[in-house]
Amino acid sequence: MRLGLLTGGGDCPGLNAAIRAVVAQAERYGLEVVGIERGWAGLLEPASRPLTWAEVEGLVGVGGTLVLTSRTNPLKQEEGPDQVAANIERLGLEALLAVGGDDTLAVALALSRDGVPVVGVPKTMDNDVGGTDYTIGYHTAAAIGAEAVERLHTTARSHSRVMVLEVMGREAGWVALGAGLGGGAHLTLVPEAPVALDDVVRWVERRHRRGASYTVVVVAEGAKIGGLQLPDYAARGRDAFGHVRLGGVGEDLAEAVGRASGLEARSTSLGHVQRGGPPVLFDRLLGTRLGLEAVEAVRRREFGRMVALRGTEVSTLPLEDALSQTPRLVDRELLEQLRPVLWL
Ligand code: F6P
Repeated sequence: MRLGLLTGGGDCPGLNAAIRAVVAQAERYGLEVVGIERGWAGLLEPASRPLTWAEVEGLVGVGGTLVLTSRTNPLKQEEGPDQVAANIERLGLEALLAVGGDDTLAVALALSRDGVPVVGVPKTMDNDVGGTDYTIGYHTAAAIGAEAVERLHTTARSHSRVMVLEVMGREAGWVALGAGLGGGAHLTLVPEAPVALDDVVRWVERRHRRGASYTVVVVAEGAKIGGLQLPDYAARGRDAFGHVRLGGVGEDLAEAVGRASGLEARSTSLGHVQRGGPPVLFDRLLGTRLGLEAVEAVRRREFGRMVALRGTEVSTLPLEDALSQTPRLVDRELLEQLRPVLWL
């Protein structure tokens, strides 16, 4: 049996651990793995090569994705789905593993409804795919954010400044939560809890009146801050899945807080640093477990499903169910529980 494997959407640490595990498991069962390059693009204009254990053996801790990625959306092209199906047949693939976030998995679901034998594997630093407790890449992004917060503490304290750190995550606040809680930020702003700029300014001023000499703020790129003039995201254009490119709220927030409070304020944006470099242990283990399970799912012919981590168990659920709960946002109850350490 020949198995295709692709990674789609933004890369993240832990993808190579998953690829390595897929190849290990496949070879154990005598299956061949064909790496499709650059996500769905590699099935529109076929670009693929066989993957062997020798090539992937040393990749458990290597960032990025061996088979490359793209944000190509075959559903946007009239002949796209047919081309993908025809190329799957031409390559002799009896199953396809699609490793991706909401966009890649939505394409996988659409193709599976057309009869393509596909199994999804959830990855994204945003951690916003439904049906799984965690996605590959999240823990590394959060850990990098937490380390950045820790580093900003010492420079903020030395200069008696307000430091704003912007982290990625799209409409979900998981990365901001991880960075803020893990690094001990004084204030963490997530999209799920909209705030008013005036309240943020008042809160920072009160903190400093009460004796604080500095403040570290984490803001999610998708945070909703009433009264803050945000960059014109739409003017930057949209990707093939219709997403605008976020980024810039941190700079605007630091500027506004500094101006209104008279405190010295600076901003830092972590950007793609959060997606680069080696995965933390959790992502190595998660990538490995989901990769192993994905091949098992193929062997059980559980197509149209996604592998997932729930509690300590890996299992599968229908892609449809996972996507109906996507984007999975930080819920109110959790925010309430964490409130004492989100606004210090
Ligand atoms: O979805 C992952 C993510 O890193 C988001 O957090 C971010 O908004 C986006 O991708 C950035 O996309 P790109 O790498 O295409 O600029």
